[in-house]
Amino acid sequence: MKRFGILTGGGDAPGLNAVIRAVVKIALNEYRGEVVGIRDGFDGFVEPDGIFKLDAAAVRGILPRGGTILGTANRGNPFARKVKRGGQWVVEDISGLIADNIHALKLDALIVVGGDGTLRIAREMSMKGVPVVGVPKTIDNDINATEITFGFDTALNVATEALDRLHSTAESHHRVMVLELMGRDAGFIALHAGMAGGADVILIPEIPFNPDAICRKVQARIDSGTKFSIVAVSEGARPQGGEQIYAIPANEVSVARLGGVGQMVSNYVADHAGVESRLTVLGHLQRGGSPTAFDRWLATRFGGAAIRLAAEGRFGRMVALQNGQIVDVSLDEALDVPKRVDPNGDAVRTARGLGISLGDD
Ligand code: F6P
Repeated sequence: MKRFGILTGGGDAPGLNAVIRAVVKIALNEYRGEVVGIRDGFDGFVEPDGIFKLDAAAVRGILPRGGTILGTANRGNPFARKVKRGGQWVVEDISGLIADNIHALKLDALIVVGGDGTLRIAREMSMKGVPVVGVPKTIDNDINATEITFGFDTALNVATEALDRLHSTAESHHRVMVLELMGRDAGFIALHAGMAGGADVILIPEIPFNPDAICRKVQARIDSGTKFSIVAVSEGARPQGGEQIYAIPANEVSVARLGGVGQMVSNYVADHAGVESRLTVLGHLQRGGSPTAFDRWLATRFGGAAIRLAAEGRFGRMVALQNGQIVDVSLDEALDVPKRVDPNGDAVRTARGLGISLGDD
């Protein structure tokens, strides 16, 4: 009987439970195998009660649930694990121990569901002989070789609804409403939601912006009789010649956290365009809650493809969506180049054609 392990790592994304459910159900139904869940990413391999059996009962009713029943960890990199010793944070490489623990569990395959950080760890663990299969998740949609990651569609819908809601209050008060969205170094959420939600200005990391261009757009709308404007700004957007803005700098425990560009844009518009402006930071609302039907469908297909790869012993691969089909690619292909918005692609061209300012005109 084959024995499979599954873990979820990095920031959560709606649809993780759909992957877990598909893996467990197909492993039991088709392969008569058994599945163990690993709690909190790779941490579960070294924590007490970190491994537990996943049977049909464990995955019942989880399809519509956000988050992950396995738990996740942002700081669980076994190659550079941060732990407190004697009041001090120290960095340890426990990858050897984790690889030994994985081998001791006699797993035929380990399915790793994660974003680029977690999948990089998976790739390094595979170099240590761990039989891994990757599944791409992230609301940021920034993983190469797959057209889309699950979680993105849910985030996009939350962001679009926020833009719809901001429209009515913007119009009533003749204000500029700025919505800061997640996405890290990729502008997919802001671009797609901005287009779906009728934003007047969309600022993304791939196209550095000139704050005066935003004011010009706001003024042009006022001149044509529309006294409100909606700005969708990606947290990773930066002014031309400037740097990305961080809410929290890196410290011994965590990496730097993006945040603040929305406030900067809102203040600039208020000061230079002479209109009232308000900021909304949508934050983790984009990651929480029930996945959309699309994300459940994609995550379920990814889970199915992952357990098939695992059962066939095809390791070091990641499942992906290409031309509507589920395929598999090497982890190298997925990770060597990050996916970004193409500034010359059709979506940006269409946005410009619609009269949306990308902040660079
Ligand atoms: O990668 C997903 C993401 O939500 C990014 O869009 C965002 O910058 C980051 O994670 C936030 O991470 P945390 O949950 O650590 O605040």
